[in-house]
Amino acid sequence: MTAEPRDVPFTFGLWTVGWPARDPFGDATRPALDPVESVHRLAELGASGVTFHDDDLVPSGSGDADRSRHVERFKAALEETGLVVPMATTNLFTHPVFKEGALTANDRDVRRYALRKVMRNMDLAAELGARTYVLWGGREGAEVDSAKDLRAALDRYREGIDTLAQYSEDRGYGLRFALEPKPNEPRGDIFLPTIGHALGFIATLEHADLVGLNPEVGHEQMAGLNFTHGIAQALWQGKLFHIDLNGQHGPKYDQDLVFGHGDLLSAFATVDLLEHGGPDGGPAYDGPRHFDYKPLRTEDLDGVWTSAAANMRTYLLLRERARAFRADPEVAEALAAARVPELARPTLADGESPADLLADRSAFEEFDADAAGRRPGGQVRLAQLAVEHLLGAR
Ligand code: GCO
Ligand code: MN
Ligand code: MN
Ligand code: MN
Repeated sequence: MTAEPRDVPFTFGLWTVGWPARDPFGDATRPALDPVESVHRLAELGASGVTFHDDDLVPSGSGDADRSRHVERFKAALEETGLVVPMATTNLFTHPVFKEGALTANDRDVRRYALRKVMRNMDLAAELGARTYVLWGGREGAEVDSAKDLRAALDRYREGIDTLAQYSEDRGYGLRFALEPKPNEPRGDIFLPTIGHALGFIATLEHADLVGLNPEVGHEQMAGLNFTHGIAQALWQGKLFHIDLNGQHGPKYDQDLVFGHGDLLSAFATVDLLEHGGPDGGPAYDGPRHFDYKPLRTEDLDGVWTSAAANMRTYLLLRERARAFRADPEVAEALAAARVPELARPTLADGESPADLLADRSAFEEFDADAAGRRPGGQVRLAQLAVEHLLGAR
């Protein structure tokens, strides 16, 4: 499967294609990939950028000389291919020091070390031109409720993120921070488990304007939630700073399938929202379409590149299907029949007060609720039109 350069900014984490497929039950099935090779292969496939954890690029424990050698090789690969680095992030989960948390660890020394580790990689992120810094709190959480002062943990989480935002401001990095919610795994219960929890938390930050979200398809679906609804609310609040696209089959372990290889109808709705959810029917989100997936453990290196191309191709196919759906006059008619456009009309008239509403007898006293309860819904027809467009039947 091949792909060509394109108008959509597709990006991949180095840790995705580079995953050697070690899982809790089995050893690696693939060799480690050199980040420089990943940059070249992704560029050939039509990606426009790469992202990384500090430790993806510079193995943990490297000395200063090794560190700059890794960074220089990576920079040279970026230059050769034209790939950009729109986002970077920190590994605050692999090393045993983070076994009980990072920014919210009970151990204060661990929290200070975690902040320093993030700050060090923010320096590199800024140097490479990244605009977004992702914070996924995989180890921020607990298995034993009584082993964590839950409210103090949120105080420390807030302190940590405000400190990092302040650091970016002090250094003039201009980074925006994107929190990535996940309900569980690796911790039994992770703090800020869903988009909604994270939005509520962000509102309490001193630097709330610099902090938004990096929602991941599978993470919301692990919690049994509707991903498209979640990102719609993030967009509505101006907080969709970044996105992790992948696939998942409902509430179970984090599958990290290729985008669209899980709940395909939901993926269709997501692409439709991203591409056509703006006020003018144009894109509602203009950031990178970032894939955070894992090539299946069954695959060899050829399979890795097949899976990378599959993410992009599936996105483009869904975009094409969503365009056809939006351009179909029968869909427009079905939308009108289901009164979908009517929802954009405010419920009260311009300048109407609660007292005016009270005085409107047609709204209540003379309103025939029984007759309104019999109005046709038209929802199934819309659902079927979406399925038919998705299947290429229209
Ligand atoms: C996961 C997460 C990670 C983060 C990454 C960026 O479930 O492991 O999705 O892949 O996205 O660590 O911070
Ligand atoms: Mn994930
Ligand atoms: Mn995942
Ligand atoms: Mn992710």
